[in-house]
Amino acid sequence: MAYFASKTRYDHMTFNRCGNSGLLLPAVSLGLWHNFGGGGDYQKMKDILLRAFDLGITHFDLANNYGPPPGSAESNLKNILQAELSTHRDELIISTKAGYLMWEGPYGEWGSRKYLMASLDQSLKRMGLDYVDIFYSHRPDPNTPLEETMMALHSAVQQGKALYAGISNYDAEQTSHAVDILESLGTPCLIHQPRYNMFDRWVEDGLLDVLEKRGVGCIPFSPLAQGLLTNRYLDGIPKGSRIDSESIFLGEQHLDPDTMVRVKALNQHAEQRGQTLAQMALAWILSRKQITSVLIGASSVSQLEANVATVHNLKITRDELAYIENILA
Ligand SMILES: NC(=O)c1ccc[n+]([C@@H]2O[C@H](COP(=O)([O-])OP(=O)(O)OC[C@H]3O[C@@H](n4cnc5c(N)ncnc54)[C@H](OP(=O)(O)O)[C@@H]3O)[C@@H](O)[C@H]2O)c1
Repeated sequence: MAYFASKTRYDHMTFNRCGNSGLLLPAVSLGLWHNFGGGGDYQKMKDILLRAFDLGITHFDLANNYGPPPGSAESNLKNILQAELSTHRDELIISTKAGYLMWEGPYGEWGSRKYLMASLDQSLKRMGLDYVDIFYSHRPDPNTPLEETMMALHSAVQQGKALYAGISNYDAEQTSHAVDILESLGTPCLIHQPRYNMFDRWVEDGLLDVLEKRGVGCIPFSPLAQGLLTNRYLDGIPKGSRIDSESIFLGEQHLDPDTMVRVKALNQHAEQRGQTLAQMALAWILSRKQITSVLIGASSVSQLEANVATVHNLKITRDELAYIENILA
């Protein structure tokens, strides 16, 4: 059946300005790291993506290596874009990244100009796009001058292959330096993509301050700690969940007794707020003034819908924040 975008798609989503830029991003964005790989259920991917667009999610986040196999999430996105969303390209913010291993030899990962430029060309081809909206350096490279990596992002923008430049997984000091270099080149750093959730708060130790001071947006990834900060594992490990899969990023060892005590206490508090734990975990991040958007993953339309509904209850009082802090301590 042909897809027609919902006429009410912009009625409920909140849009936030990305740092000091002119770009607005939806409070909830969708990442294609998991659930969009080569052997996955294409109809389900399509359902999730199109429902996201209908709910006001204009931003889809990718990377060269998303799959498995690496690159397959970009290829699947191409098929969905071309079949269903081709008339909506100007309503979409599509990002990709380069930094992790993509091909053999010395030019297949990290932060050299050689790798970044080649990788972006490959990503554009896989996605069937003329340009991406945001091109990220996926991780800092200790062995490449930061100037070279930032110059490659700048070139991508100059060449019209990306509209904006971003960085991911850079610490506060590296970020400050990267922002300086990009500024001197005339391509401002639009956005930083760090891991941030109730269980992983390293960004509070300097990075958020740098981003605020420099006018750079922030889009935390894994805001639900890959599912730990949801009701997914309250009663064990469900079939088909990320822990049940072959994920090397989340395992049974993450469900340790200390974590589960906290998850249960947080879940109870979320229920008192009339929310799910996932919704409270997202609202908690969005309550920080530096945050532009939370970058969620979803393995079903119902997860996506539940997470997007967070925007209806973003308020968290000081007392609640203190209560949550106690649980997390
Ligand atoms: N820059 C980087 O280095 C980097 C690294 C990692 C991720 N990212 C980006 O961030 C995006 C999100 O990462 P993530 O997938 O780890 O995010 P996440 O939102 O923390 O975790 C998503 C997973 O949690 C579970 N979940 C989500 N909503 C749920 C709900 N309402 N109830 C129960 N379970 C729920 C699902 O797992 P199940 O499969 O168990 O259902 C889902 O796949 C990625 O797609 C990618 O774009 C970037």
